Amino acid sequence: CGIVGYAGGQSALDVVIAGLKRLEYRGYDSAGVAVLADGGLAAAKKAGKLGNLGKLLDERPLPSGTTGIGHTRWATHGGPTDANAHPHLDNSGRVAVVHNGIIENFAALRAELAERGHHLNSETDTEVVAHLLAENFSACGDLAEAMRQVCRRLEGAFTLVAVHADEPDTVVGARRNSPLVVGVGDGENFLASDVAAFIEHTREAIELGQDQVVELKRDQVTVTDFDGAPAETRAYHVDWDASAAEKGGYDYFMLKEIAEQPKAVADTLLGRIDEAGRLTLDEVRIPDHVLREVDKVVIVACGTAYHAGMIAKYAIEHWTRIPCETELASEFRYRDPILDQRTLVVAISQSGETMDTLMALRHAREQGAKVLAICNTNGSTIPRESDAVLYTHAGPEVAVASTKAFLTQLVACYLVALYLGQVRGTKWGDEIRSVIRELSQISTEVEKVLGTMEPVRELARNLADKNTVLFLGRHVGYPVALEGALKLKELAYMHAEGFAAGELKHGPIALIEEDLPVVVVVPSPRGRSVLHDKIVSNIQEIRARGARTIVIAEEGDEAVVPYADHLVRIPATPTLLQPLVATVPLQVFACELATARGNEVDQPRNLAKSVTVE
Ligand code: G6P
Repeated sequence: CGIVGYAGGQSALDVVIAGLKRLEYRGYDSAGVAVLADGGLAAAKKAGKLGNLGKLLDERPLPSGTTGIGHTRWATHGGPTDANAHPHLDNSGRVAVVHNGIIENFAALRAELAERGHHLNSETDTEVVAHLLAENFSACGDLAEAMRQVCRRLEGAFTLVAVHADEPDTVVGARRNSPLVVGVGDGENFLASDVAAFIEHTREAIELGQDQVVELKRDQVTVTDFDGAPAETRAYHVDWDASAAEKGGYDYFMLKEIAEQPKAVADTLLGRIDEAGRLTLDEVRIPDHVLREVDKVVIVACGTAYHAGMIAKYAIEHWTRIPCETELASEFRYRDPILDQRTLVVAISQSGETMDTLMALRHAREQGAKVLAICNTNGSTIPRESDAVLYTHAGPEVAVASTKAFLTQLVACYLVALYLGQVRGTKWGDEIRSVIRELSQISTEVEKVLGTMEPVRELARNLADKNTVLFLGRHVGYPVALEGALKLKELAYMHAEGFAAGELKHGPIALIEEDLPVVVVVPSPRGRSVLHDKIVSNIQEIRARGARTIVIAEEGDEAVVPYADHLVRIPATPTLLQPLVATVPLQVFACELATARGNEVDQPRNLAKSVTVE
């Protein structure tokens, strides 16, 4: 969910709505606002996207005030209805609360409130907080203190932001696990889940830590812990500007972000390869002697980042000879994994907020493992809680389906693998040096692929009425196939599955029928040619059963030509780096198919970009 709070001199409603627009990627099931005006509190909320709330406000305008809060929701407790939308008010209608996260003991608190005669109107855990806040405020007369008292009673993960009509110039926020950032302006201050919400007003930010409460007035920001003791915070300057989060002439953010990939890849490499062609990852603050002792690498991530992690496994094991496993973060800690001081855990996350990944890394650190984060969001929770971080420099990614962040995650994974190889000195020294050279040129290859995508778009339009598309790959092409299928599910709402091509004959081949589109990612014929020959056989097997083959193969690979109904060429790269170029056509394919099917590209149904609940 996305949260905004404002205390200042402008119209709070305008500031909050503009902020919510920039946070809509975090959830768009419903939206709502509350402003303090004329000694009271006025609120409006509506199911559906922010546009629906806009219409409601046009029909029934709120009085104008200079203190307010807002919320854009990704539903957890209770469906995406008007009643369940935030803000939630207490019975007196003088307290309003917005919330991101899950309050785990809400049922017990709700029962307790009901016993004391409170009427609760929604199915959400948030409403409970509004009622508790109102009670505590009546007793102590101070909203920040009431918030601290309430927080001490809550279990789970939450960001809460609240206003009370009896404190008309104050917004109070609280943070446990879910993110909350303060924007410090001149005679105005902001609260938001992400700096994007206030970047057009100020670039000075304060990051709130775990279990902190902030009291925001137009000229004052006070942060304490849940017991009221002054708390330490970190102030920082946001170095990207508002235009980085604008569409810049593209119809969708996703198209813009796909197009930005060569730059994102180059930026992620920038300053990390020295003139002698060696990697210099000074920011990885884990000392070399510790890296030399590592005897196991475990990668944890979710969604697209997980696919980057799967590819990293091939690279790490090959270049370092350290056993490496990649695991879905949501599964990791629940199976009691074997970890110790010699385990390096790599947590990959674009947002740095994904709760599943955060919980996995906390578990890893509790077991004594060292954690290295690969993250795109400066100062977010995952890098803060890790031993070291390697930032990807993709810039803000707004479209829910990840593209440029994925490519930069791959680059970062290669850097980690090659760096570990460099530090530990393996028999692949020459190969490592040559791959570093190729990696430094790779953004040009990504650019070339982008220049040849028109036939892919045309193919996507022709396949818009299909129900199923399958994706096959071997080796690093297998995670690429999974990513291609995920993109299609997310964007086109089609049944799409990725398989390891060799596994096909053990079951999935039964799915092949006349004219079923099957995308095959073909490894380079150079070097590991056995792999290449095997997949050429796999293509023949499916074609013999009627599949329509869409083959993604390297320039000059003639062996696939007789079996390809559609051929998509990608530049030749070292085998392990191929995902950087092979993924791009699959992104373009999914984006175009979604458009052809009339779907919303940047905000697919039911999804959110940052999922801050487990
Ligand atoms: C959500 C998004 C996915 C993303 C995943 C992990 O589910 O919809 O696109 O891959 O979270 O996000 P992260 O920010 O941790 O990379």
